[in-house]
Amino acid sequence: VASHRARGNDAGAGAPPASPGGTGGFRNAADTDPSVPAGREWAGRVVALARDSHAGEATLATARVTTAAEARAAVAATRRGAAWWWSRDPGERAAVLHAVGRALETRRADLCAVMMAESGKTLDQADPEVSEAVDFAHYYAIRGEALSRMRGARPVPREVTVVTPPWNFPVAIPAGSTLAALAAGSAVVLKPAEQSARCAAVLAETLWDAGVPSDALRLAHVDASGLERGVGAALLTAPGVDQVILTGAHETAALFHRLRPGVRLFAETSGKNAIVITPSADLDLAVRDVVQSAFGHAGQKCSAASLAIVVGSVARSRRFLAQLEDAVRSLTVGTAHDPSTQVGPLIERAHGKLARALTSLEPGERWLVEPRRLDADGLQWTPGVRVGVAPGSWFHRTECFGPVLGLMTADTLDDAIALQNGVDYGLTAGLHSLDAHEIARWLSRVEAGNLYVNRGITGAIVQRQPFGGWKASVVGPSAKAGGPSYVAALTGWERDESPL
Ligand code: SER
Repeated sequence: VASHRARGNDAGAGAPPASPGGTGGFRNAADTDPSVPAGREWAGRVVALARDSHAGEATLATARVTTAAEARAAVAATRRGAAWWWSRDPGERAAVLHAVGRALETRRADLCAVMMAESGKTLDQADPEVSEAVDFAHYYAIRGEALSRMRGARPVPREVTVVTPPWNFPVAIPAGSTLAALAAGSAVVLKPAEQSARCAAVLAETLWDAGVPSDALRLAHVDASGLERGVGAALLTAPGVDQVILTGAHETAALFHRLRPGVRLFAETSGKNAIVITPSADLDLAVRDVVQSAFGHAGQKCSAASLAIVVGSVARSRRFLAQLEDAVRSLTVGTAHDPSTQVGPLIERAHGKLARALTSLEPGERWLVEPRRLDADGLQWTPGVRVGVAPGSWFHRTECFGPVLGLMTADTLDDAIALQNGVDYGLTAGLHSLDAHEIARWLSRVEAGNLYVNRGITGAIVQRQPFGGWKASVVGPSAKAGGPSYVAALTGWERDESPL
């Protein structure tokens, strides 16, 4: 991976940190400045990794990608440098993380611009993501320092953490995972999703510039051809990796868990999330929250609402359906650059499960709002709503990750909860009800890691709403990101005396 960074770390434990800075392996496509020496770039092939979400396949930036041998070398070099980061006073590490929080604020506009260009995020989605990253920095700084004051348990380092975030939260999730590991005293190799590699590079630059030593944070870009050649697997399974924080598909996490049962894995994976609406609900609020949760970032969130389950008279009356239809038809679809856009582009041409969900119905279903493709690239779709989704059917149980919502009906709240629980996953779940007994009953029975009453089901808030899954939405220990025990969970403890 890193010619310049990896060399900077060969000095080993006890050495001062290699100087921060660098380009994160990236050059802007328009950057023809010959004075940037090749030595500042990563080793390996240069590929057009960052795509411009507004211009089909046009290139936004290029990056050097990692080979399997470089991935293993990056882990080895990180391990050699890890002792220095661990040996810092916890207050010093916390001060660096607070500085990162301030630096992220300063670079808010840059980060938003890159998210909009590369990921097609609209500003209303990108801006809160920077805030979440800022919150992670300050919160994990506080939690990391608090660890050192815990009595009766002695922390020991888990030297190397590999972080593999997804493309759909290209700043908040890599920031949160990386900063939590750093707060735990671990050094990090960050492998960004190839679709959001430029966001990760700007993020890493921000961390280095704020004082995270390049000994403690490395970037390893892997593109699709590298993944096919097993470079990602080589990184995850390299000798010297102590733990992995993975956010992505359940299958990837489960495969890794089988391959390396000895390496601690913190994985937050897929979801098939529903909002239940009972007759006592404020229907105006329910429609607003269902629409935001289903179609924000074009539904490309593990936390998104993929189902709405309407109970009793809500199911029988036309009012909810009519309001929902109006609201969905009123959404503006477009590019992220256009400030009027409410539903931005897909990260890539719809294929597989999402293509099926956008273009065909299952037996007994009909379209309340039929999705339409708006552009030749197949990136912009008007949102769709399918009604009559049957219990146990393909759409009831399958995560499709895009702008399609399914409606189910239930006679009673208990029937609705059974439908909500009748999927493999348990990530987010919502209830709209103004009845205290219904709320209490739902809270005690629903099987999901993140429960929301009378609000949308995306957008967990650091510290206030720690985020983590249940059932197949999690692989490994179910530590909750943004919660009080996350940094402690990423720390090793002598003789199994973890305070958790
Ligand atoms: N934390 C995000 C949310 O709550 C999902 O990763 O929407």
